[in-house]
Amino acid sequence: MAVQRLGHLTLPLHTLLLITLLLLNASATTSDQPPIPNENLLVLTVATRETDGFKRFMQTAKHLNYTVKVLGTEEEWSGGNIPHSIGGGQKVRLLKDEMQNYADRDDLVVLFTDSYDVLFAGGPEELLSKFQQFNHKVVFAAEGLIWPDNRLAEKYPNVRSGKRFLNSGGIIGYAPSINRIVEKWQLQDNDDDQLFYTKVYVDALKRLSLNITLDHKSKIFQNLNGAADEVELHFEPTRVRTRNIIFDTLPVLIHGNRQTKHLLNYLGNYIPDAWTSETGCTVCNEDLLDLSTLDEYPSVTVAIFIERPTPFLPEFLERLLTLDYPKEKLTFFIHNKEVYHEKHLHKFWEKHKGDLQMKFVGPEEVLSEGDARNMGMDYCRQDPGCDYYFNIDSDVVLTNPDTLKLLIEQNRRIIAPMITQYKKLWSNFWGALTPDGYYARSEDYVDIVEGNRVGVWNVPYLAHVYLIKGTALRTELKEKNYFNQDTMDSDMSLCRNLREQRIEKEKGSPTPESCHMFKPPKGIFMYISNQHEFGRLLPTENYNASHVHADLWEIFDNPLDWKEKYIHPNYSNIFTGKVVEEPCPDVFWFPIFSETTCDELVEEVEHYGVWSGGKSEDKRLVGGYENVPTDDIHMTQVGLDQVWLHFIREYIAPVALKLFSGYHTKGFAMLNFIVKYTPERQAYLKPHHDSSTFTINIALNNKGIDYQGGGCKFHRYNCAVESPRKGWSFMHPGRLTHLHEGLPTTNGTRYIAVSFVDP
Ligand SMILES: *[C@@H]1O[C@H](CO)[C@@H](O)[C@H](O)[C@H]1NC(C)=O
Ligand SMILES: *[C@@H]1O[C@H](CO)[C@@H](O)[C@H](O)[C@H]1NC(C)=O
Ligand SMILES: *[C@@H]1O[C@H](CO)[C@@H](O)[C@H](O)[C@H]1NC(C)=O
Ligand SMILES: *[C@@H]1O[C@H](CO)[C@@H](O)[C@H](O)[C@H]1NC(C)=O
Ligand SMILES: *[C@@H]1O[C@H](CO)[C@@H](O)[C@H](O)[C@H]1NC(C)=O
Repeated sequence: MAVQRLGHLTLPLHTLLLITLLLLNASATTSDQPPIPNENLLVLTVATRETDGFKRFMQTAKHLNYTVKVLGTEEEWSGGNIPHSIGGGQKVRLLKDEMQNYADRDDLVVLFTDSYDVLFAGGPEELLSKFQQFNHKVVFAAEGLIWPDNRLAEKYPNVRSGKRFLNSGGIIGYAPSINRIVEKWQLQDNDDDQLFYTKVYVDALKRLSLNITLDHKSKIFQNLNGAADEVELHFEPTRVRTRNIIFDTLPVLIHGNRQTKHLLNYLGNYIPDAWTSETGCTVCNEDLLDLSTLDEYPSVTVAIFIERPTPFLPEFLERLLTLDYPKEKLTFFIHNKEVYHEKHLHKFWEKHKGDLQMKFVGPEEVLSEGDARNMGMDYCRQDPGCDYYFNIDSDVVLTNPDTLKLLIEQNRRIIAPMITQYKKLWSNFWGALTPDGYYARSEDYVDIVEGNRVGVWNVPYLAHVYLIKGTALRTELKEKNYFNQDTMDSDMSLCRNLREQRIEKEKGSPTPESCHMFKPPKGIFMYISNQHEFGRLLPTENYNASHVHADLWEIFDNPLDWKEKYIHPNYSNIFTGKVVEEPCPDVFWFPIFSETTCDELVEEVEHYGVWSGGKSEDKRLVGGYENVPTDDIHMTQVGLDQVWLHFIREYIAPVALKLFSGYHTKGFAMLNFIVKYTPERQAYLKPHHDSSTFTINIALNNKGIDYQGGGCKFHRYNCAVESPRKGWSFMHPGRLTHLHEGLPTTNGTRYIAVSFVDP
């Protein structure tokens, strides 16, 4: 081939000149032609179903002022299973019928295009002017891969550069010429349209007499199959184009043929002006459902999946009640796979059984995650009164009470609120896919996650929390099993089913029938919205459900939720208000723990149960001896030492800095322990100093309720604090000035948590 091409280049000089002159002449001719008026353009497409892709096509047409005539809307699709295999003859038949009406219209230009997987990127004037520059009666789209019969490849004329093979997804031409091509169609609806046109084109006589050419360089038609690396988004202030960087063209129609649907979906988030840098999202508010115009709110099945041990589950459950939505319109389906969480669900059930409709499926059912999700979805599908199915996994923290309403208002078949892990880029969607269907980062992923681009985005994967229309479950999604396929995880399985991904053999495979491995495309787009702040996603990997209260350990992985659950609600007032008290000189008193923290700490150590007994010999200590022993359990014994030290650095150190101005604690403490005082064992502690720079002493239960007596006395000042408050801490210097004693507990049991900071 290379030798041959070199041969061409060594043409005599006068021949080259002649060719050059001819080319110049040709382009001179076209620019002399008067432009074709927009009224002379007829756009035709075939659509038997109003898929999301079709709606998007029509939206781009409307934005660019095209008028589209849709053929086949009243017909059932009988054109085979494209693009699995050959088929599409129905499209030719419909076009043939239609073109009879325009057989004599010399002035009429017809654009015939696919629509489920096509969008307009440029307007009618541009289209017509580019068509005129071809100086042919008919122009077909082109692509680099031949289909469906690769034996025809050698019959194609050679091209010096550009795409060589015909693609029937886009045709533009004068009406009489197109009519002359399609009037020859005699085949069946499920015969192949592309093969039919290809045979016309590769027949040199027909090609010349019908004056047909191909759009080799994607001036009008961009097929994405095999061309993903050739295209990039090209941002203009209020317009976004797809640029072909090989041919330096801005194609007018973009076609996501074969396995490039998700690339087209990505481009479609921008083109032609769906999102631009100047306008932001222009399509987010189209076709909204205004809830205020409805007589009553739609009914929603809220399906909750607890598929693994999850931190902060009680808080998750209670938060569901904060959704701003009429409770009588909500039905809860709850699948819990974890025995550990049964106590949490039981408590929730007891509290709300009177006012919520709930169906529980517990761990005793031994359902796989996929089976459980299928069951939940079916729960809505089978109930004609179920308008929406709202899936929410237990690791989702929905902080926006309007989430459900906002999603319903978007009026999409499937939509998810975007959530991310706290201060991380990890989210509940993917922007792109690898060729084999796994995660890939799209160019806009970080901008979407960080909110630099705000909108409603068509994405190939979403999970954890999403809303599906009940009608979709009863029509397009009526098969019952979307979650159990292969060994894939259940959300990946669902998304693969939805996004029209199929396994397909290489083009030109002689046995396309063998490719029918998956069901036909659903034509459903998955959207994710980052128009609002919705909440966050909890990391769960390190959660250790062997503890009684495993959430206590989550200070590292889920610091925000830890703080909300465990730190006293008035803690932050220490730095702004007058919360801190000083009951004795240099003995400061402030709120630090919530009630829950106190209860859980006590339960955790009581569960461990090995109290020291208040003996002076103490194997836990380096010296093996304690002068003033308490009856206690060390944080190291229950595995809470690292958590505790982190707590001191995060929450105690700032208080110490404020109260002992200028003292920066290293937040170091060797002795952190929980003491138990009770008349039956040890009731008091004799006067002593602490081996600390300062000591914190946190009351973990209530005087008068849990015990009588107790308190702390500071001898130098002859000052005692006799009514400690649960969740409040003392902070006082450990040595020299603050000799103190633990006053006797006279009844019940008193617990305190103590740390000797900076020994
Ligand atoms: C579409 O047509 C309207 C009215 O003729 C015009 O105002 C608008 O600018 C046109 N839009 C485009 C994208 O050409
Ligand atoms: C194709 O048609 C154009 C007019 O539309 C004409 O100028 C050109 O010569 C024709 N080309 C061939 C190869 O017939
Ligand atoms: C989980 O906690 C249990 C009980 O405290 C402990 O024995 C175990 O080592 C922990 N597992 C991990 C992986 O940290
Ligand atoms: C927090 O402080 C406010 C105002 O002083 C008080 O009313 C409220 O009870 C405090 N909250 C708790 C949990 O103690
Ligand atoms: C000790 O506490 C128990 C239960 O908390 C109570 O019944 C009893 O009366 C108390 N005894 C005294 C002496 O206060």
